[in-house]
Amino acid sequence: MLQLTWTTALPSDSPSPVVVVAVRDEPDAAAFDARFGRGVREAATAARFAGKAGESFAFTATQGDRLERIVLLGVGDLRDAAALRNLAHDAVRQGHAAGASRVVLDLRTFVGNALSFDDAAAAVRAGDLIAQGAELGSYAYEHYIAPDKRAPKSVREVVVVAPDGKPAEGSHRGQIIASAISRARDFVNGPAALVTPTHLAEAAAKIVASLEADHDVALVVLDRDECSRRNMGCFLGVAQGSDEPPRFIHMSYRPRGASKGRVCLIGKGVTFDSGGYSLKPTDGMLDMKMDMAGAAAVISAFEAAVRVGVAYEVHAIVAATENMVSGHAYRLGDVLTASNGKTVEINNTDAEGRLTLADAMVYASKLEPTAILDFATLTGACMIALGPRIAGVMSKDDALVDDWMAAATRSGEAMWRLPLPDDLKEQLKSKVAEMKNTGERYGGAITAGLFLSEFTEGCRWLHVDIAGPAMVSKPYGVATVGGSGFPVATILEFLSGDLR
Ligand code: BES
Ligand code: MN
Ligand code: ZN
Repeated sequence: MLQLTWTTALPSDSPSPVVVVAVRDEPDAAAFDARFGRGVREAATAARFAGKAGESFAFTATQGDRLERIVLLGVGDLRDAAALRNLAHDAVRQGHAAGASRVVLDLRTFVGNALSFDDAAAAVRAGDLIAQGAELGSYAYEHYIAPDKRAPKSVREVVVVAPDGKPAEGSHRGQIIASAISRARDFVNGPAALVTPTHLAEAAAKIVASLEADHDVALVVLDRDECSRRNMGCFLGVAQGSDEPPRFIHMSYRPRGASKGRVCLIGKGVTFDSGGYSLKPTDGMLDMKMDMAGAAAVISAFEAAVRVGVAYEVHAIVAATENMVSGHAYRLGDVLTASNGKTVEINNTDAEGRLTLADAMVYASKLEPTAILDFATLTGACMIALGPRIAGVMSKDDALVDDWMAAATRSGEAMWRLPLPDDLKEQLKSKVAEMKNTGERYGGAITAGLFLSEFTEGCRWLHVDIAGPAMVSKPYGVATVGGSGFPVATILEFLSGDLR
C-alpha cells in the first residue's frame, strides 16, 4: 500500500521529483501565468493542451538548485466519480514512468469549484475515490513474471494537496477497496489451472482466517457429496463433467452493532467455461478463465466490507465449478432438478452459469435475507446490448434497483437497467420439464435473468450481468488489460448506504 498523506498546501520540503497538477477544461490564463509563468502556458497551448480529460503536458522547472518535473493532467469537468479516480490513477502512473518515489498531486489550483464538495459526505467519498485510483495506479498482474523482470514501480508515497481537509477521511477506506479490487483482478487474471474451485475455497478460508480475530466472520465450504445431499442438482449437473472437485463457498459476517439487514452476495464462479458439449470455438473460449469474475468480486468485496465495518450482515456465496467436456459431462436433453425441486431441461450446456446460480440462490433464500444480489459473467447477449463497459442490471424490485444504481453512480461504475418482461418466459417453456435453460438468440440477457427469477423463492433480488466490464481488452480509466475488479466498488458503496 502507498503512504497517502493529505495537505491543503504544497509540502514545504519541495521540490518533489514529480508534481502532478490537475488542470480543468480551459484553465484561467491569469491563474495559470501566476503559477507557472506565461511561457509555460504558451508552450502548453502550442502542444494542444487544453485541460481536457486524458491530455497531459510535462515540463521541468527549477526550484532552488533542484529540478522538479511538473505534469499538467487534464481533467475536463471532473463531473463523475470515475474521473476523480482516473485522475489519481494517472498521477501515480506518471510517477512510475518518471521513476519517482514520491508524487505530489495538486488538486487545488485549476480544479477549483469542481472539488468544493457539496457536502461532507461527498468530500469524504472524493478522498475514497482518489485513494482507490492512486492505489490502482500500481496494479499489474505479474504472478508469472520473474521479480527482476517486473515493471519497476517506484512510487511509495503520494501527497494529495486538496482544497480542504475532508477528503482525508475517505482515504483509508479507498485503500481497502483498492486492495479488494486488486485481489478480484488477480483471481480473474489467474489461469484456470491455478484458480480452481479449490483455490477459491482456500482463498476464502485465508481471508476469513485473517479476519476472525477481530470480527464475527465464518466460513462454510460444501463438497460434491454435501451439495448432493442438499439436492443441488443444477450446480452438480454442471460440475459433473470436470475432474476438478466443485466447491460451494459461503462466507458470512455479522456487524458488531445493530445490523441494518442481511445481504446475500452471490457470485458466478465458473472457473473455466469450455461451453461443455455445446462447445465454444477457440475465440469464444480464449478468455473463459474470467467466468468466475462474479465470485472474485463477492469474495474480495466481502473482505473489504468486513474491514470497513459495514452495518449489514453480509453473506458471500459462490457455487464454484468448471464447465468441461468429458465422458461424465452433462448432455443436451438431460433434465436436472434444482434444490427447490424445479426441473430444467438442458438445451445448451453453455448456459451453465444460470444453473450454478439457481442452487446458490435457493441456498441464499434459506438465510431469510433482506436482499439477494447476484453478479455473473452470464451472457454474451448483455455485451451485445450494452457494449463491453456497461453492466446490465435486472430486477423486478424498483426500490432495490434505485438503491443499487445510486451506489453505482457514487462509485463511478457504469451500469444500465434492462427489463424483465414476463412474456419472454415463453421462450423457456419445455415439453419434458418445468423449463429449459436457454431461450432464443434475441433477448438472451433478459431470458437469462428471467430464468434466475424462478429461483428467488420470494426474496428481494437483483441481478447484475457483468460479462462486459469484468474483463478489459483495451485499457480505460483505472482498468488495465484483464480483470477489472468490477463491481467491487459499487458493492462497498451499496453496503455503506441505507436500503429502502
Ligand atoms: N460465460 C458465458 C458468457 C460470456 C460470454 C461471458 C462472453 C463473457 C464473455 C456464459 O456461460 C455463456 O456461455 N452464455 C451463453 C448463453 C447462451 C448459450 C444462451 C452465451 O452468451 O452465448
Ligand atoms: Mn457458458
Ligand atoms: Zn459461463
